[in-house]
Amino acid sequence: MNRTKIARLLKSHAPANDVLVKGWVRTKRDAKNFSFLELNDGSCMSNLQIVADERLPNYDEVRKLLTGSSIAVTGRLVPSKGGGQQWEVQASSVVLIGTAPDSFPLQKKRHSDEFLRTIAHLRPRTNKYGAAFRIRSELAYAVHQFFHERDFRYIHTPILTALDCEGAGELFHVTTLPPQERRPEADFFGVEANLTVSGQLEAEMLALALGDVYTFGPTFRAENSNTRRHAAEFWMIEPEMSFCDLHEDMDLAEEMIKYLTSHVMTHCADDLNLFARFVDKNLPGRLDVLTRSAFERITYAEAIAILEKSGEVFEYPVAQGMDLQSEHERFLTEQYFKRPVIVHDFPKTIKSFYMRLNDDQQTVASMDVLVAGIGEIIGGSQREERYDILSARMDQMGLAREKYWWYLESRQYGSVPHSGFGLGFERMVMLVTGISNIRDVIPFPRTPKNIDF
Ligand code: 4AD
Repeated sequence: MNRTKIARLLKSHAPANDVLVKGWVRTKRDAKNFSFLELNDGSCMSNLQIVADERLPNYDEVRKLLTGSSIAVTGRLVPSKGGGQQWEVQASSVVLIGTAPDSFPLQKKRHSDEFLRTIAHLRPRTNKYGAAFRIRSELAYAVHQFFHERDFRYIHTPILTALDCEGAGELFHVTTLPPQERRPEADFFGVEANLTVSGQLEAEMLALALGDVYTFGPTFRAENSNTRRHAAEFWMIEPEMSFCDLHEDMDLAEEMIKYLTSHVMTHCADDLNLFARFVDKNLPGRLDVLTRSAFERITYAEAIAILEKSGEVFEYPVAQGMDLQSEHERFLTEQYFKRPVIVHDFPKTIKSFYMRLNDDQQTVASMDVLVAGIGEIIGGSQREERYDILSARMDQMGLAREKYWWYLESRQYGSVPHSGFGLGFERMVMLVTGISNIRDVIPFPRTPKNIDF
């Protein structure tokens, strides 16, 4: 007989003879001649109640089962006589697969997130982290569905690269040489190689051939900022569209966030409910705002003017030309507009070389999508498609043009207006769950001084 997932069983709404379920014992309660086992197999939030009685040949063994042990149960699925659950299984056999001693750290009491980070190998077995990682999985599925429904092609861009797409220098270098022998010419690729910070430059080449494309993969940044929203390894979704300007780019970004949020609200209701009850009481209201209200769109200059007039005391004082800090982003979304905000047309001095220069010669066709609780969740732009302007800008910014020869060459052969953006996948998981630290939406997070597991 094949094992049935508990999620499936609980949805079936019909009694059944001889079901086989396998999972981990969450708790056990003993009466005089029978025991209730709460079994969880990770397929959903709910446990399945197992009734094991003294007629089982190994009932002595069952009575000794401790939290965390794994078992296989065969029995009848029947309507439960007790309150609290609709179904239970009357066990005809309970086979012990793996014991867990009483030192198993996940006993019934609630544990802090800080403690659970120290046992990242076990925390997926808690309700909260099980729910977070199921939602993460469902969101990844929804990303592909969103693009597939719109005829975007899924492309794979390199993880190893010799370039720094964002120009911020936050690179992890890759080498096969021992420290004392490190010289780029002697190394594996014959030049300095890095882990990618973005697949954008390569994605642009595919967009200039296939039309609309997207990447969805890991990216790496050696940003030494120990914040709640930065990880050294994170996943990014980067759509890139040919024959597309910044306005259409912003439209897609807004549509995507709304789509992903609605998808999770529809398909992960039980898991979301846990976050609404125990993590963030305002979550349902916030998700509602996300899916229903039009995102506010303002220029960078307007954003600065609002911040200057706000009367707020910010840790980083506001000035024209500065990059927006998380506190400014959150003020705009949480207090001023009370909904997501897209800030566009930033000064060229604080943005990457590839962004399209506006007619004012001072700003670029860029945009950041800001959301409550997080700040920036998307960064994107229309790309500079004019060869002369792109090369001049690379020179001004001190970029070695010869390293980017192929990127520049794409502007000499049938260049077209094109645009795209990057959505930080972890920040999207944070947004829909209300989890406030990026370390808790990644099974095994990588942050400064932290690469255990
Ligand atoms: O704004 P960013 O740096 O944009 C790019 O990388 C562009 N190449 C994207 C594009 O136009 N194709 O990063 C995009 C998003 C951010 O808005 C943020 O959500 C996320 O990536 N992000 C991070 N997430 C977690 N940890 C970090 N260290 C992150 N850095 C950026």
